[in-house]
Amino acid sequence: MKEKLVRVLQTANSDIKEVYSLHDLLLLKSRYIGKKSELNGFMQKLGTLPKDERPAFGKAVNKVKEEISNLISLREKEIIESEYQKKLESESIDITMPGRKREIGSLHPISKVMQEIEDIFISMGFEIAEGPDIEDEFHNFDALNTPADHPARDLSDTFYIDDDVLLRTQTSTVQVRVMENHKPPIKIISPGSCYRNENDASHSPMFHQVEALVVDENITFADLQDMLNIFVKKMFGDKIESRIRPHFFPFTEPSAEIDIICVKCYGAGCNLCKGSGWLEMGGAGMVDPNVFDILGIDSEKYTGYAFGLGIDRIAMLKYRITDIRLLYENDIRFLKQFK
Ligand code: DAH
Repeated sequence: MKEKLVRVLQTANSDIKEVYSLHDLLLLKSRYIGKKSELNGFMQKLGTLPKDERPAFGKAVNKVKEEISNLISLREKEIIESEYQKKLESESIDITMPGRKREIGSLHPISKVMQEIEDIFISMGFEIAEGPDIEDEFHNFDALNTPADHPARDLSDTFYIDDDVLLRTQTSTVQVRVMENHKPPIKIISPGSCYRNENDASHSPMFHQVEALVVDENITFADLQDMLNIFVKKMFGDKIESRIRPHFFPFTEPSAEIDIICVKCYGAGCNLCKGSGWLEMGGAGMVDPNVFDILGIDSEKYTGYAFGLGIDRIAMLKYRITDIRLLYENDIRFLKQFK
């Protein structure tokens, strides 16, 4: 019997060493010291031994049980420790490694310039008005006193979606929307996208304008010129003047084109201004009384000025961008420069 006990202890010892998971260890535990274990069987057979041998044998069995139980506890600790180490290794981080760089985006140059323009006009008491990009002929042409046979309505310039539905070709549409809904005094600007069927280094099929409309009693052409001058100085610096040249727009009378002194040569003449010393910025004029009449504003009582400036053009001048298409190709190398 004693030999059997020694054998059980030995096999238990070597079995326990071979176990690498807590689950298998539990199985071993029940095999060696559980209810159905061989050791328990020995205890049950105790009665078959001569009386005087019983206590010593019982003791011996219990001792083996205890030893096996100790071996199991030890192994259990080892397994827990090694699993913990494995986990540490698999989840280890090297805090001396450089961090992963997250690229931070930046505003598009058009958005930047738009915000700057808004800030300038807001500081002078203008409000921001908005209108839809998808418009009808009334807002884009009719209400702006544009004759039915005006070439600007042509399919080759205007993107028509349907007979009477089009992509607005100018932000002047917002003048109409504002005057439809508000009585003077009116003092708004409206920056936004416009669309025309043209595409080259200085024209993009989608581009941006900022419209201004000021309507009240006694608004004069001098107010318009003054406002334009203030704006260009705030936008481009004190050295920059604006000038106006006579022009024609259906919705203003008189009408003018706005130039500013070349931001590169300050008027001396260079490749940017093609030697003229001036750069074109947009159109302007006094609101045509016909427009007031169409929109139900008393043209005897009120006068107003309006202008529309090219935002893409302003951005190109400000950042010395020579091809408008760069603005819309979304080349990261280009956009990154505006951080
Ligand atoms: N809408 C004109 C264009 O796109 C620009 C313009 C001219 C706007 C005169 C105005 C204006 O408000 O008064 O060419």
